[in-house]
Amino acid sequence: MTTETQATAAASGAGATARFRENKHVGGGTSQARVSALAGRLIKAVNDIVTDELVSYDEYNALKAWLISVGETGEWPLFLDVWVEHSVEEVANANRHGSKGTIEGPYYLPGAPVQHSPATLPMRDEEPGTPLLFQGHVKSVAGEPLAGAQIELWHADDLGFYSQFAPGLPEWNLRGTVIADDQGNFQINTIQPAPYQIPTDGACGALIAAAGWHAWRPAHIHLKVSAAGHRLITTQLYFEGDEHVADDIASAVKPDLVLAPTGRADGQGREVTYDFILDRTTEALDRIGRSR
Ligand code: DHB
Ligand code: FE
Repeated sequence: MTTETQATAAASGAGATARFRENKHVGGGTSQARVSALAGRLIKAVNDIVTDELVSYDEYNALKAWLISVGETGEWPLFLDVWVEHSVEEVANANRHGSKGTIEGPYYLPGAPVQHSPATLPMRDEEPGTPLLFQGHVKSVAGEPLAGAQIELWHADDLGFYSQFAPGLPEWNLRGTVIADDQGNFQINTIQPAPYQIPTDGACGALIAAAGWHAWRPAHIHLKVSAAGHRLITTQLYFEGDEHVADDIASAVKPDLVLAPTGRADGQGREVTYDFILDRTTEALDRIGRSR
């Protein structure tokens, strides 16, 4: 057993909760009218389910106990990012041109070591897994290359664990910030991640087991791609042939985001090309007078 297999829901939940508190500068929130409208609808939806489904006191108390345990184990970021974030992302990006986005999930960390393309993500000597050369270019919706675009990427290792959220991994393992060249080209060497199973030993895992669902996300690479004057995109890329591409617990797969790597001619693992097309910022759009 490696140390990584000792990862627990409580540890990754606590890490994700701490990370959220540090990095998400939750601003002024929203207006009183919006709070009243949104909280009112949520409460009504729950009451409607109780009435329609004739929910019993046993079921109500099971819900209460479960909600308490989600908070105690710090699993709210995991719960929300698996079951809610996908629709928030759809709404946020409905007006975006260019590449598709998808959920960020709970394990992003800003400040991964910066390298210029061609780059190799920080990894252990003999990092397990199939080597993967991920390459492409970053361009605008008008097709212009975006020189010096920044590609932040993070992904799980060959056992499905993320550095800084599972024990025993070097700090920045399989996390990096890569600067594209003056043609917007990037080449990144990494390993192909494994499918990820959300922790099964905590409150989210208990729900999944009680409902008879599965806990899997397809293997994925997380990305944030940005360039001056353009809207940062948060996305993920998946791999053709992965059984969970059609059955992601987090509902975050989109057809455009599924890669089909091929074997490299030199036999050294696989390679795949994917181009990022970034939309302009609203400020840039205002300047050129394109309306939304
Ligand atoms: C979760 C984990 C992920 O790696 C991800 O991409 C989305 C959600 C989670 O455990 O909630
Ligand atoms: Fe993930």
